[in-house]
Amino acid sequence: MDKPTLQNRSYLSVSIALLAVGALTFLLFRNGEKWLRSILIYLSQAGWARTSVSNWGVSWRVASRFVSGTDREAAIATTRALNDKGLLVTLDYLGESCTNSGEAQQAQAEILRLLDDIEKHKLQANVSLKPTQLGLKLDPQLACENIRVVVQKAKSVGNFIRIDMEDHPTTDATLNIYRQLRYTDKLDNVGVVIQSYLYRSEGDIEQLIGDGARVRLCKGAYAEPPEAAYPQKADVDANYLNLSRMLLSDKARSNGVYPAFATHDPAMIDDIKLYVRANNIPIDSFEFQMLFGIRRDLQVALAEEGYRVRVYVPYGTAWYPYFVRRLAERPANIWFFISNFVKA
Ligand code: FDA
Repeated sequence: MDKPTLQNRSYLSVSIALLAVGALTFLLFRNGEKWLRSILIYLSQAGWARTSVSNWGVSWRVASRFVSGTDREAAIATTRALNDKGLLVTLDYLGESCTNSGEAQQAQAEILRLLDDIEKHKLQANVSLKPTQLGLKLDPQLACENIRVVVQKAKSVGNFIRIDMEDHPTTDATLNIYRQLRYTDKLDNVGVVIQSYLYRSEGDIEQLIGDGARVRLCKGAYAEPPEAAYPQKADVDANYLNLSRMLLSDKARSNGVYPAFATHDPAMIDDIKLYVRANNIPIDSFEFQMLFGIRRDLQVALAEEGYRVRVYVPYGTAWYPYFVRRLAERPANIWFFISNFVKA
């Protein structure tokens, strides 16, 4: 990850130029933020950009704010440090959209080793995984089988697996895998994620509440078309609050739903805190979740107030798409990246 080759340098320059154009559009035009987000989501999926940006030391310097390290040892050290501060962890071995069954097997083997290490080191941590990392785009049945082995292993060591949610074309297949594991295989140590930007999410939450599921609620991190998702942030936020109320309802709690509110947004967090207090909901019947490297101050403050807080800690060499999605979420992160490029 040192000096880029001449070809990579040109790819890098194209990536940075696209970013700079996006950043200027953001500043100059009313819909600039949407354009900037679209450019970044495009870059997060572009193979040419991935190779050149990933192989460049400066990118890693910026990305390492959001990624604990490239190997399991680094992730374990980070987890221990967070646990010492009273924070729970969910570990994510980075990877998505695998292109052959060998890659899916490799990811599965690493996650199985991770589960052993969590037990060995007595860490307060569970594991999150992405269905496309375990083969969803190759064959949903293969992904289901791969994930089943992981969930069974987690059960044998008293741990829990969260199936992350990816872009909307994978939502049905992901929920089907969850249902198969939870109801056909009767594995109770698995949970799913619902995104408040999707129109369909209210119906999905209703069904999951009926089933007593463990649901993580987030806003959603992918570029979605207006046919599938609310284009306006205000609507995504309003739906987040609506869905959080559903997950905290008497019906949900009596069905055993244990929600995880994954957000750094103080407006969402304060609203949930007020709602919980006003309705005498025990603070150990849900948790807040945040990403490693984002709002560390808030993570610690909430834990000190007595809330359960879980930090999502990613590790691995396939950090590029995860990192670029973090840039897409907050324009200020891009200036930091561009200024490092200029200094390099
Ligand atoms: P919002 O984007 O409104 O940001 C609120 C504030 O948070 C910002 O003003 C800023 O202060 C801070 N912030 C947010 N993002 C930041 C960033 N990248 N850098 C610096 N500051 C930032 N998505 C998904 O589609 N599927 C999934 O499975 C998951 N899983 C998941 C797990 C966990 C634990 C978290 C916290 C998030 C996810 N997400 C996700 C991502 C989620 O959908 C969303 O994109 C981000 O959390 C950003 O949205 P916020 O709710 O934080 O609010």
